Formats: sequence, C-alpha cells, structure tokens
Amino acid sequence: MKTFVIGISGVTNGGKTTLAKNLQKHLPNCSVISQDDFFKPKSEIEIDTNGFLQYDVLEALNMEKMMSAISCWMESPRHSLVSTHRGSSEEIPILIVEGFLLFNYKPLDTLWNRSYFLTIPYEECKRRRSTRVYEPPDVPGYFDGHVWPMYLKHRQEVENITWEIVYLDGTKSEEDLFSQVYEDLIQELAKQKCLQVTT
Ligand SMILES: Nc1ncnc2c1ncn2[C@@H]1O[C@H](COP(=O)(O)OP(=O)(O)O)[C@@H](O)[C@H]1O
Ligand SMILES: [Mg+2]
Repeated sequence: MKTFVIGISGVTNGGKTTLAKNLQKHLPNCSVISQDDFFKPKSEIEIDTNGFLQYDVLEALNMEKMMSAISCWMESPRHSLVSTHRGSSEEIPILIVEGFLLFNYKPLDTLWNRSYFLTIPYEECKRRRSTRVYEPPDVPGYFDGHVWPMYLKHRQEVENITWEIVYLDGTKSEEDLFSQVYEDLIQELAKQKCLQVTT
C-alpha cells in the first residue's frame, strides 16, 4: 500500500509537537509517532564530567523501539476512524514522525517523503524551554552546557544532508506555520498521486 511519511524535526521547543498535532487534525488518515516517547529510563542515560545527563543524543533514545513502531504502522497503516473527510478510505495513509533527532539517524533516511526542520533563535529557545517542566527537571546551566551545544552539532549534521529539507521559521505563529506546511503537503501529495497514475 502507498503511504506518505512526513518528518518534522528541529530544535527543542521549536514547535514540532504543536505543528504535528495541528496537521493531524486536518489531514485524513494521519497518525503521529513522537520521538519523545522513546527515551531510555534515567538509569541508562550517560552523565558527562559536569554531571549533566546526556539526554540530547541518539544514545539516550531507544531508536530500535521507535523503528519497530514505524515498521508496525507501515505494515498496516491505521486508517483514522474519526475522519470526516469524504472518500477518506481512498486517501493515502499519512504518518508524521516528529522529534528532535530524526535526520541524523541513518536507518530512517529512506523513509521520508517530506522533511521539515523547525528553527528558533537561541534566546527564544532558552525562554520557551524555561517555561516547560521536564522530568527530570533541567538543572542550572543545563541549557548552555548540554542542550544548545548538542542542537548546534545536530544542526550541522542536518545541513550536510543530501535530500531536501524544508527549513521552517519557528518564530512564526502556530497558524502561519500550519498553513505553510499544510499547503506544501497538499502539493507534495498531489505530486505523489500523479506518480501513482503515471507509473
Ligand atoms: N509557533 C509558535 N509560536 C510561539 N510559541 C509556540 C509555537 N509553537 C509552539 N509554541 C510553544 O512553544 C513550546 C514548545 O512547543 P512544542 O510544540 O512542544 O515544541 P517541541 O515539540 O518542538 O519541543 C510550547 O509552550 C508551545 O506552546
Ligand atoms: Mg515535542
């Protein structure tokens, strides 16, 4: 069965989860898998010489488990039961995978039909992050000592990627980001439908 898989990555607090949820509300047959659901337990997280838990690296995530969840969806893409869109049973099943470390994880490289990367500046990121409560909570100096440096490293890796990544300005309003991505996706989905007819 044809599927369409969307990757939404980017900086912490860039708005990935918010955007994914807004898209899911408006796209027929759309499921979401969130990378945040696949963190290893705290006891398995490395600690650096400054005492900072190393959460913002691939090793902190059970990526095999996340891959299994994606494979499971691929085998039987779930059709949304609540969809009110007419003819939705004929719509291509859509999967959104959202998370802060997606495009530097090689086994996922061939999965993406469309890739987005949300960015926000340092100050805004630090501000948004300080309003959130994490488990375990961010310790003093954690943002500057771990979170932001790891993001810069990841961002560098993403900039060297060969397939197309659509960068999104995360300081735009939730509504503007939704509209921009929704319109882009409608075009991409139309292209895929053409492809199905002609091949
Ligand atoms: N476009 C936006 N403009 C301003 N604030 C936003 C926007 N999108 C999300 N937020 C806020 O930023 C915080 C992080 O959003 P979230 O979607 O959880 O980010 P992420 O999943 O990338 O960490 C939340 O408090 C959310 O309400
Ligand atoms: Mg999130």
